Amino acid sequence: MATPIEEPRQLFLHQLRTMLWVELTLAEEVLPELYDHVHAVDLKWALERHRGETEQHVENLRRVFELLEEPGDPEPSPALAGMKKEHDQVMKALDLERHDVVDLFHVDVIARTEHMEIAAYEGLARTAQALGADEDVVLLLRENLGQEEHALEQAEHALAKLLAEKVESPR
Ligand SMILES: [Fe+2]
Ligand SMILES: [Fe+2]
Repeated sequence: MATPIEEPRQLFLHQLRTMLWVELTLAEEVLPELYDHVHAVDLKWALERHRGETEQHVENLRRVFELLEEPGDPEPSPALAGMKKEHDQVMKALDLERHDVVDLFHVDVIARTEHMEIAAYEGLARTAQALGADEDVVLLLRENLGQEEHALEQAEHALAKLLAEKVESPR
């Protein structure tokens, strides 16, 4: 049975452990897989760069657990697992020869993932501050947040480019 969550600090730790699992899964499985699926060079570049940042997110979270003097055991996230499942399902239906449609789909997947991470880190950073956690805890969470925001901007930029090239002026 799951550990009961009664206090804000326990909820905060639970959410931190979930984000550790999310970041590990993104770095080790999801981002390398998305990299293999996309075609546009700028998208591949953005995914490779964000994979490196995501490895840093894992390190930052591990440091947060150290500063809090709490065990940092990753807690599986059914939300990310579900997003992965949905991705695999849509991939089966997609015409893989249509590189533009495949890329459009992946930009959407990337944006949804970043939105999820942004919401999580906004909440975590605010909660850490309210709980009076070490200043470095807040800074590390904000560092992750800033990179997620940047990754979302890049996805939005890639979407605008793909839409302009492929949708607004169809062949
Ligand atoms: Fe991340
Ligand atoms: Fe991210």
